[in-house]
Amino acid sequence: MTKKFHTVRPIPNRQLPQLFIETYGCQMNIADSEVVVSVMQEAGFALCDHIEQADIIFVNTCSIRDNAEQRIWGRLNLFLQYKKKKPSLKVGVLGCMAERLKEELLSHNAVDLVVGPDSYRLLPKLIEAVTHTGKQIETHFNPEETYADISPVRIDPNGVSAFVSIMRGCNNLCAYCVVPFVRGRERSRNPKSIEHEVTDLVANGYREVTLIGQNVNSYLWSDPNNPTEHVNFAQLLEIIALIDPKLRVRFATSHPKDMSKGVLYTMAMYPNICHHIHLPAQSGSDHILKLMNRKYTREEYLLRTKAILQILPNCSISTDFIAGFCDETAEDHAQTLSLMQEVRFDQAFMFQYSERPNTKAANTYRDNVPEEIKTQRLNEIITLQNQLSLESNQRDVGKTFEVLVEGLSKRSDQHFFGRTPQNKVCVFPCGESQIGAYVDVLVESCTSATLIGCIAHKVQNATFLPHIRPFLHKPDK
Ligand code: 5AD
Ligand code: SF4
Repeated sequence: MTKKFHTVRPIPNRQLPQLFIETYGCQMNIADSEVVVSVMQEAGFALCDHIEQADIIFVNTCSIRDNAEQRIWGRLNLFLQYKKKKPSLKVGVLGCMAERLKEELLSHNAVDLVVGPDSYRLLPKLIEAVTHTGKQIETHFNPEETYADISPVRIDPNGVSAFVSIMRGCNNLCAYCVVPFVRGRERSRNPKSIEHEVTDLVANGYREVTLIGQNVNSYLWSDPNNPTEHVNFAQLLEIIALIDPKLRVRFATSHPKDMSKGVLYTMAMYPNICHHIHLPAQSGSDHILKLMNRKYTREEYLLRTKAILQILPNCSISTDFIAGFCDETAEDHAQTLSLMQEVRFDQAFMFQYSERPNTKAANTYRDNVPEEIKTQRLNEIITLQNQLSLESNQRDVGKTFEVLVEGLSKRSDQHFFGRTPQNKVCVFPCGESQIGAYVDVLVESCTSATLIGCIAHKVQNATFLPHIRPFLHKPDK
């Protein structure tokens, strides 16, 4: 989750001041960088794809774990070297770390500007102020800000799949998590603006959108002019699915306590909504789930996964786990392994607990699982998940899946890669196919990470909508 994404689809205009942006962290940060690029282009800056060309470097940061932050401090030290070569170079730190560390970041010699996630509209003004009066900082929360009216400039050059932010912030206060402190209260974006953004993506040839937010299932928009009018997440999904039957719709992330049957039924109704749900479990132990303030028990989590598979039998389920949370005993850890065995997750992201300042866990619990035990438990979780992912992929051998072609495989320019609706990466010989097409791929073999196959036959417009009258769900929570 602290992967670094390289910008940029360059818009080469060397007459204008050149901006280089680096993005770390989650999908939310990619979507935010796309908003930042839009704001900056509007103000007369051009993107460049080589850091050496930059007049301004922005680094969009993540605070989720300590190692994510350490990486950024390392980058800032490097930027200092660039500044020595080019004294006019300006460096701005954006995102979660900017919000969390504020002046501490500003006092780094490389840094000219620190701007939190709710203040990106102010960037051009702040940069001007940097030029005239020196270092600037703006980290106020704006509980209304959703950047609804800003058209993000797509920085991932694939042109097939895009992230669309539908809400910001988080109200959940999980004991380990820094997000509510760096991204503020939850707010949902106007569904009309989401619909416009997706319609625009389709017009520009995009074939897949992922609706993103920290907790998409609690999306709830109330019309300020008519507060009795609401749109919940199931309704939003339906609105987006109806835009174009050839557009794949995905979403992330879902909190187990908010995963409603309405969402599952909407997924069942529209073939272009992909059957994959990311449902972070975090732990399999009731004792730890309670300490984490997750607001569900192991039993309730299992009931959710059963409901998913009952309504969507071919749905894949992925998850997140944290190893070595405060007070986690060997028995708690065994409960996590047994939950994994019981659900047989298709994929998982697995982390070692990292204490984050000011969270409930940091303030009231002791980070008392020794590092070597955390690492050992994490390794056991990873080993088991590798086996479960391999088994999950092996169950797909011999089956045919509709794959959206996203690009050339990293290992061979004779092979494409794409994903199945279940979000599994699939590699196959290019044949007659092309990027952005749907192809039927027959899976012939696999690893724990990848399905390997060949094109069964080319499918154009394979995804269709049933001729049913669209219905809009009533909120069912
Ligand atoms: N330490 C380790 N992992 C964490 N996550 C969130 N906060 C922490 C932390 N303090 C993990 C959770 C979450 C994912 C995005 O990152 O598993 O679902
Ligand atoms: Fe990292 Fe969370 Fe910020 Fe995303 S929202 S960048 S995961 S701290």
